[in-house]
Amino acid sequence: MVANDALIEAFQAGLATHFLRIQDQSFPSELHDRMCDMTLDAFAWPPEVKSAMSMANSKHFLGFTGRGDELTNDHVDNREVFDFVLESNQAAQAYPGQRHTEYGLLTGCNQWPDPSIIGEDFRLTVEQYMCHMRKVYLKVMEQLEIALDLPIKALRKLDTPDALHRLKLIKYIPENEFAGTWKTKQGVGAHQDESGWLTFVQEIDEPGLQVHLRSGKEWIEVPFGPNTWGVNFGYSAVRHIEMRSCH
Ligand SMILES: [Fe+2]
Repeated sequence: MVANDALIEAFQAGLATHFLRIQDQSFPSELHDRMCDMTLDAFAWPPEVKSAMSMANSKHFLGFTGRGDELTNDHVDNREVFDFVLESNQAAQAYPGQRHTEYGLLTGCNQWPDPSIIGEDFRLTVEQYMCHMRKVYLKVMEQLEIALDLPIKALRKLDTPDALHRLKLIKYIPENEFAGTWKTKQGVGAHQDESGWLTFVQEIDEPGLQVHLRSGKEWIEVPFGPNTWGVNFGYSAVRHIEMRSCH
């Protein structure tokens, strides 16, 4: 398949800035909306439901992280986070007995909310959403292969059965809600997700994600719409793709 100029230009810009905005009309809108609703519900769960899922219980960095449980540059991270892994992709079972390895530490089983209190819908929605997001990821990889004139599946073959796919649900506390308290500054403020491979960002509330070029200071609101994601290219992805493109 031959890439058109617009596709080539879009991915060249994405690799240069490490950021791209994509839309996938084939993604089930109902699932997209349900995931948004479930996320808002999750942050409103009773504190005891969230604390029963505390990441402190997990060797694999999975579960709930409350406001103030993490610090960045000596300041409280004013946010709440749920971390999940795609268990059906075998990552959780891929390295039995190898928990001493750094990669093995990141794989493991999720912590889910008590179904007798929350029901099963949340878990089902998260699992379905992660499976569909994996398909979105593979489509992006396929488009990249075409745009960069790489051999077929050159990038998609990296998605082996034990590849690690994670989902984070994050609620940031607006700054005006903690200004003047002991938590005066946002720990995890402006940052780039540099270490990962690809990060897909979906927004629920506005104002939300903003970006700026390294060369500029002006923050730009990322326009989100139905079935739209911001894609952050981590350094490892950019370096790997650039090396594959030098042929
Ligand atoms: Fe991030």
